[in-house]
Amino acid sequence: MVNGGEYQRRFLTKSEGKKKGSRLSSSDFLKPAAAQSDRLQRLFIHFLKASTDMTSPLPRYAKLSMYLHWLMLALFVGVYACIELKGLAARGSTLRSALLGLHGLFGLSIFALVWIRLLGRLIWKAPAISPTPPIWQIGLSHVMHGLLYVLMIVTPILAWLMLAAGGKPVPYFEFFMPAPVALDPALAKQIKGWHEWLGSLGYWLIGLHAAAGLFHHYYVRDNTLRRMLPR
Ligand code: HEM
Ligand code: HEM
Repeated sequence: MVNGGEYQRRFLTKSEGKKKGSRLSSSDFLKPAAAQSDRLQRLFIHFLKASTDMTSPLPRYAKLSMYLHWLMLALFVGVYACIELKGLAARGSTLRSALLGLHGLFGLSIFALVWIRLLGRLIWKAPAISPTPPIWQIGLSHVMHGLLYVLMIVTPILAWLMLAAGGKPVPYFEFFMPAPVALDPALAKQIKGWHEWLGSLGYWLIGLHAAAGLFHHYYVRDNTLRRMLPR
């Protein structure tokens, strides 16, 4: 049960509270049903707004973009860890195929999430860095972000094409991706080379990108990294 004082503290605005003095009288609880439901409605709208507000006060990235950024870093760690560990597992072992399966699962999750992230990027402008870095650094960061998006979109597509051309299924949980190309082992081999090349380039792209972020944070001491850290 909520007592009068508690009711006032939780549900009344400051001005309503002041108007009524420090205590609520019992008649407050006998208000017409319409007034009570109006207050409940306001409370509901307040909670709805608070929970769906994906923007944050400048100068930070939108909350959704920040959460996706760090979630996708975790997925990349999974993608690379699985492919590296797979190399250590015995050929034909269950562990080896499980690691390859997980590699694909993490990779397809990146492919699924990147579109939401790209949409967020188009809707919410990136917050300005302060103090403003030289123009060449800003240009370079845009090129790097573009390359990282290529990595997140093209690498999984190549994997999908490679497996389809090799006649292998591409499962994503219960769903099986349709085959966009006909069986063609020579093509599968060629696309495999591209997938592995782009995937391996990803180590460098992510490494340089992360190093630049840390350099700005610890050496330049601007707000580049803080803009990407949820409070
Ligand atoms: C952004 C996502 C992805 C990245 C960064 C990535 C990266 C890589 C890397 C670095 C390799 C190994 C390269 C080498 O051995 O030199 C590889 C191999 C491979 N990847 Fe991916 N990959 C991604 C997504 C996927 C997806 C979605 C699938 C499957 C649906 C997949 C299936 C494979 C396969 C089958 C191999 C070859 C493994 C082998 O036979 O040695 N990858 N990937
Ligand atoms: C330890 C690892 C990482 C660190 C420290 C890091 C740090 C940062 C920082 C500080 C920013 C803001 C830069 C700016 O606005 O100019 C940023 C943005 C960005 N990062 Fe990372 N990052 C990491 C990993 C990754 C990974 C794995 C990817 C994806 C492959 C990625 C993709 C992006 C993209 C595309 C942006 C631009 C903002 C957006 O569109 O979401 N980052 N990152």
